[in-house]
Amino acid sequence: MQIQLTTSPSPTADTLIIPIPQTDELADILNTVASRFNLNATVLQHDFKADLKESLLLYQPEGRKVYLLGLGKQPTAIVWLRAFRDLFFRQKARLSQTVGVDLSGFDADVVEPVVLGIRWAGYNLKLHISDKPESTDFYTEEGQLTIHVTDDQQLAAGQAIQRAEAIADTHRQMLDLMNSPSNYKTPQTLADWATASGERYGYSVTVFDKAAIEQQGLHALLSVNQGSALPPVFIIAEYKPANQPDAKKVGLVGKGITFDTGGISIKPSANMHLMKSDMGGAAAVLGTMEVAAKLQLPVHLIGIVPSTENMVDGQATKPGDVIGSYLGKTIEVIDTDAEGRIILADGLGYMVRNFQPDVLIDLATLTGSVISTLGYHAAGLFSNNDELTAQLLQSARQTGEQLWPLPLWDEYKEDIKSDVADLKNFSGKPMAGAISAAKFLEVFTESHPAWAHMDIAGMAFADTEFGTQKNATGFGIRLLIDFLRNLP
Ligand code: BES
Ligand code: ZN
Ligand code: ZN
Repeated sequence: MQIQLTTSPSPTADTLIIPIPQTDELADILNTVASRFNLNATVLQHDFKADLKESLLLYQPEGRKVYLLGLGKQPTAIVWLRAFRDLFFRQKARLSQTVGVDLSGFDADVVEPVVLGIRWAGYNLKLHISDKPESTDFYTEEGQLTIHVTDDQQLAAGQAIQRAEAIADTHRQMLDLMNSPSNYKTPQTLADWATASGERYGYSVTVFDKAAIEQQGLHALLSVNQGSALPPVFIIAEYKPANQPDAKKVGLVGKGITFDTGGISIKPSANMHLMKSDMGGAAAVLGTMEVAAKLQLPVHLIGIVPSTENMVDGQATKPGDVIGSYLGKTIEVIDTDAEGRIILADGLGYMVRNFQPDVLIDLATLTGSVISTLGYHAAGLFSNNDELTAQLLQSARQTGEQLWPLPLWDEYKEDIKSDVADLKNFSGKPMAGAISAAKFLEVFTESHPAWAHMDIAGMAFADTEFGTQKNATGFGIRLLIDFLRNLP
């Protein structure tokens, strides 16, 4: 599908979408719509209330279709995105090859979420179905989306389309990676994706293989990898903007477990298949690196992804084992299913020792506990820096990728005190699990003054309109790109 911008008052697409917010002027807007399309205004006002995601299809005598799309009372960016994703997903099979969206009554700000919503709606989960469903007219190469804006919004709208296209394409690839089963997605798959992306968009990617990981002393990553037939990888990506020696340095670390069986502390089988998605943090980091490079953002970005499976065999790390780490701290492994924090210990440790970023952010599908705490509506946000917290919360509100702060008080440090090692990876108690995991990570940030950890376990893989099982959301990319674009 191609996108074009127009300022012509009567675009010629076969399907026209008219978004309508539920404001005090609704009656006036509907009167205008009624006279434009030759309808009875009273009947239209009776039948269309502009509730969120409400849609009304008007068939025109000449064969054209017009959808009125309700946006509800508070059309924030995420409301625009969801309303368009919902309509285009529901109407996918019925959309004509050419579709127009009338945004002439709105600010150019809405263009980005509209394009993202429309692109996302075309996503197809059926990666491995042998009888591939045909793409529908609109979502083919020949499909045409025309966005109608006023003259004064044209420049900003054009930029918004470019940005949305950059994000949408990377986001879709991350959905595919997340949704990929673990027999198609190994640590090397993540490394290969990063290498190809770096070559394509001009940023550097270094991949440590198992020998290099051993040589570097990334002992914590090696310990989680012990039970796996596949070697681990340690991915380091770096994007430096041209001619900006003073650009802020932001370090991103993402959990890249391509399958989490739990290891010897094995998980129950009921939902274990969902653990192919335990690399949601890695997807957020790799996706953000690519989009930042595409958009040439003025930030110096470093992305680190430690990646391995967490498997069970005769070599696997056992509960009670004491392991080492890149920073030299020893860890008593109480539960081998708390493996995310173990590999992040090396990711964070390597980042702070070798790159000294101004801002340090990690993302991980880290605990079931954060889901018990916040459900599927927000990721847990942990930070030792109020300014960073405020900036991330602002981006969360803006993008609808919601975060909610949880504490990092030292009272919780008790939970990770070990009798035999520098620290242990699990308190053994069925409480405050997301917080003690964050306290564990904190040890490996070496008191970095601007660190944030996001536990995205409930947000990276969720119920969506695309499938019957939980599937990928791409959580974190839009959030981090908004954060990076607004860095002071
Ligand atoms: N990958 C899981 C966390 C998770 C759970 C992600 C549900 C997505 C959905 C993580 O490695 C894990 O198993 N955490 C354990 C830690 C516990 C053993 C301390 C958990 O939360 O149960
Ligand atoms: Zn686990
Ligand atoms: Zn895990």
